[in-house]
Amino acid sequence: MFIRSSGICCRTKNPLSFLVRSLIPFFLALFFLSKLFTLPTPTSWSVATERPVIWRSRRTVEWRPCNWWNEKPLVELPNKTNGYIRVDCFGGLNQMRRDFCDGIGIARLLNATLVLPRFEVAAYWNESSGFSDVFDVDNFIKQTQGFVHVVRELPEDIAITHKDPIMVDCRKRKEKFDYIEEVLPYLLKYKYISITPAMSQRRDRYPLYAKVALCQACYNALQLNEVLESKALELLNSIPKPFLSLHLRFEPDMVAYSQCEYKGLSSSSVKAIEAARGVRKAWTGEFGNAWRKRGKCPLTPSETAFILEALKIPRDTAIYLAAGDGLLELDGLTSVYSNVHTKSSILSSEDFGRMHGNTKAALDYYVSINSDAYIATYFGNMDKMVGTMRAKKDLYKTLVLNRRIFAECVWKGLAGMELADALWVMHNNDFVIGKGNALPDCFCEIKL
Ligand SMILES: *[C@@H]1O[C@H](CO)[C@@H](O)[C@H](O)[C@H]1NC(C)=O
Ligand SMILES: *[C@@H]1O[C@H](CO)[C@@H](O)[C@H](O)[C@H]1NC(C)=O
Ligand SMILES: *[C@@H]1O[C@H](CO)[C@@H](O)[C@H](O)[C@H]1NC(C)=O
Repeated sequence: MFIRSSGICCRTKNPLSFLVRSLIPFFLALFFLSKLFTLPTPTSWSVATERPVIWRSRRTVEWRPCNWWNEKPLVELPNKTNGYIRVDCFGGLNQMRRDFCDGIGIARLLNATLVLPRFEVAAYWNESSGFSDVFDVDNFIKQTQGFVHVVRELPEDIAITHKDPIMVDCRKRKEKFDYIEEVLPYLLKYKYISITPAMSQRRDRYPLYAKVALCQACYNALQLNEVLESKALELLNSIPKPFLSLHLRFEPDMVAYSQCEYKGLSSSSVKAIEAARGVRKAWTGEFGNAWRKRGKCPLTPSETAFILEALKIPRDTAIYLAAGDGLLELDGLTSVYSNVHTKSSILSSEDFGRMHGNTKAALDYYVSINSDAYIATYFGNMDKMVGTMRAKKDLYKTLVLNRRIFAECVWKGLAGMELADALWVMHNNDFVIGKGNALPDCFCEIKL
């Protein structure tokens, strides 16, 4: 199913037409005549019939850990701690991980000691929430040694007087703020605080040693715990090699959240989307079209399949579907790419049924940082984390599909071969500069 914009827009402000209008009618007539003959064929793409698979293109940029992050601490940790910080994390697994990583940088910035973070829900086979249900605590402590102080448990003298930390809520602060100015006083006063990092922090003011601590902890020290990793490995081993891990985002909540209108969905999809919609109504009409054109609408499985074909990914490619439960309209993909594997098709139903959402997310993450290729239809927290880990492991076949470009091309009236070729060219531009391959924080571009 494709989304077409209703009506063709040709009211672009054209300085030429403005000039012509002010000239004599003869030119006016000539102008419209010429317009008439050039309008119907968008010929800005020269269609090449044979494009290679996108991964064959020569990349011009590679992402690698920045030089200043040498996997060694930059300076010695101060002997005295300013207090204890617990990072409280919420949301999906990769969002919690992102916030925890930020919290590590903050703890180092404030010369504080980290206690193990609190993960809202992260259980493996049950709801016993906690960091250790996902990550290997011993490895984390070992790998962060010398970068930041970490304790498994609060020391007794603090624990006696401070059962629970004082919560310093950073999330509500809208403007850019500085943790030394605003959080350090609480830390010094209360000795044990909890924070949930805000996105707006002044990371630009971090001393380098705090950034180094963040990079080391986030990208070298966080490994899945043994139980989870063996489950993930079992999954990985069952997928035919080589394979493409496809992070497809077309679940009811995602579609509802996007406020996009889709035509031609099955009635069960429509029902599921409506149930997830709540107060968020879909944009329609002119605004709906503009919204889509700005790249706001999740790609459907069939649009995704079309783009994969445009990128010359062979139809018999083994694809692992890294996706949440309740993916809609999957037929759109599987009718084109039939070699598709999912967690539920590989794991025993007993295993699968007992797993928490974040456990499934951990499995998808693990498979995706070990696959031959990774393609995401959306650039979310998981895709950023996966792209970064893949860059670190030199797995360069990573790409985020560009929904804005897709929407623009369709809006321009491109279809079939022409559309496919335009998509190849545009995505190739993204691929050669490694777009989506790494976060700028700890990774730097290397020109090839
Ligand atoms: C911390 O203490 C040790 C021994 O007490 C000393 O050798 C070291 O220089 C101190 N480090 C700092 C950063 O003060
Ligand atoms: C933290 O310790 C470093 C030395 O490692 C020192 O330069 C810095 O001023 C300290 N910062 C705070 C907030 O105590
Ligand atoms: C949760 O699972 C872990 C690991 O399987 C187990 O050790 C623990 O007892 C379980 N907790 C509950 C509350 O079931």
